[in-house]
Amino acid sequence: MEFVEQLKSSIDIVKVIGEYVRLKRVGATGRYVGLCPFHQEKTGSFNVNQARQFYKCFGCGVGGDVLKFVQEIEGFTFPEALKSLAERYGIPMPKRNDYADADSKLRAALFEIHSIAAQMFQANLRSSQGNEARNYLSKRGISNDSIQTFELGYSEASGQALVRALGERQFTEEQLDASGIVRRREDGSGYFDFFRGRLMFPIHNESGKVIAFGGRATRDQDQPKYLNSSETQIYRKTSVLYNLHRARNDMRRSNRAVLVEGYMDVIGVYSAGVKEVVASCGTGFTVPQAGVIHRHSDHVVVNFDPDKAGGDASEKAIQILLDEGMHVKVLALDGGLDPDDYVKQNGADAYRGKLDAASTYFHWLADRARQKFDMRSSDGRMDAFRFLLPSVQKIGDKLERAAIASDLAGYLGVDAGLVLDQFKKAATDRRAAPAPAPKKAVSVPAIESILLNAVIASPEVRAEVLPLLTEDLIADFATREIFETLRLIVDSGSTATFSALDARLSPALKTLLHGVVAADDIDNGAESLELARACLRRLQSGAVKRRTDELRAQVKSAEREGQVEEALALMRELGRLEKQVRRNGGGEAGMPGVVH
Ligand code: UTP
Ligand code: MN
Repeated sequence: MEFVEQLKSSIDIVKVIGEYVRLKRVGATGRYVGLCPFHQEKTGSFNVNQARQFYKCFGCGVGGDVLKFVQEIEGFTFPEALKSLAERYGIPMPKRNDYADADSKLRAALFEIHSIAAQMFQANLRSSQGNEARNYLSKRGISNDSIQTFELGYSEASGQALVRALGERQFTEEQLDASGIVRRREDGSGYFDFFRGRLMFPIHNESGKVIAFGGRATRDQDQPKYLNSSETQIYRKTSVLYNLHRARNDMRRSNRAVLVEGYMDVIGVYSAGVKEVVASCGTGFTVPQAGVIHRHSDHVVVNFDPDKAGGDASEKAIQILLDEGMHVKVLALDGGLDPDDYVKQNGADAYRGKLDAASTYFHWLADRARQKFDMRSSDGRMDAFRFLLPSVQKIGDKLERAAIASDLAGYLGVDAGLVLDQFKKAATDRRAAPAPAPKKAVSVPAIESILLNAVIASPEVRAEVLPLLTEDLIADFATREIFETLRLIVDSGSTATFSALDARLSPALKTLLHGVVAADDIDNGAESLELARACLRRLQSGAVKRRTDELRAQVKSAEREGQVEEALALMRELGRLEKQVRRNGGGEAGMPGVVH
């Protein structure tokens, strides 16, 4: 496990998570907060604690270290997360890899197969085999720069090139079968390439590894126009977005994403200098994809093809994005052009202007409603109104909702009073729906959380205070078992770091620990020691008070029963204790800000 610790100590969790989630620093204590990537929320309950190198969501309860995060967000196994971080941050992995289980080994082979294929397709496009495809690209105005950036390629027509190349590399049949990009012949006499004679678009996962391909025919008579990889163990269509790994930094920087329909649109828009552009590949837009976009930006412009299919797809995408809580605009380009063609005909500046001027989804929907329904009849106008109502109700801001309501009435020519009635009704419905109770952070008394954080954070506190936290002092602690585990670690001579402790706890105790640690705001060693001493004094004086109360009760009952000897002995002990309390000044002093 040594390598794991080494890796964790050489990367910063804030940097890693910051590439997947927009984080804001809170206070000066190295605590960061953002929207949780693992559940849907409007206000950030997702905490990243830099000092402890650990994350925790108070909304859904997830939490852990940087490796856990990468596993969860990328769907990686532990060894894959390790490898991916090591590669990304240039940390050499030990040659012998003890971590890989069978599943990770298969997936590693699939990544390798896709990488080999991508390189081969690119080489094909540069060679004479790629003449026709290169001509096609230049006819469509795709520059050499774009070919390079998007790693475009060409799959050879014979159907044997990839099979042969993979054959030289000793992949097992299981691995070849699982790859999906070579297929078994029906008669069992070997394999053939799935993509043949097509222009190849590699599809990457969020960390930039090739996981699938889209292949476009270069002649109209070849059908289908696009052939896409089927799902594999490294490719889940419904959560992958084309171009995400190139777009995500710009999405966060501009707080905007542009959603288009096709590979070609992405390339066109990207080359117009709008790099925050993504597309779903070979499927309709999905809920998980909306979640992925929202991790990187709050605003999205939907810019689909201006045909019937594109319109219907936009309508669906808008609903999904609104449900995700995003700010949605729609760009409908004039002249019946898709984004790619628009850039080509009117230039990058014109396209960027259109994008910046895109109007709120609502205007686009209203236009659609006017086309869909017979606006001359009052029934038609009501239908149009009903069509729009659900999306307007999704507007969170009350004033904005009211403004749009009156706008809507005017635009559709319906009675304004009627619109207002419907809105009031919608508002009451909304109130009637029980708001989900916000999950609170695990509640641990302040004294415990201060002590626990101080013990984890500060070697001085560990040396001085931990030995004094005797069994009877922590007997009632919710975190008792965590303290006991800590003591075991210290007694065994190991360093009681957060991760050493975390590794030894049961899931329930882990959750407790994470809650306590994530909420920690004290970063300063001297302050930790002072606070821990104060907590200790309070615990000790509490224990003494319990003991004196107990002695007083015993004295009373001894006197009642006429056991004089016994009563005197008890009173002597009581006297000793009371003197000690007076000497210690009551033990309550110097306990800053600790509230139960
Ligand atoms: P388009 O037909 O708009 O393709 O389909 P495009 O990317 O703009 O390409 P050009 O401009 O026609 O060359 C949009 C997306 O739908 C999927 C692809 O992901 C494509 O990029 N699609 C389309 C398929 O999966 N299969 C098809 O047969 C067609
Ligand atoms: Mn197109």
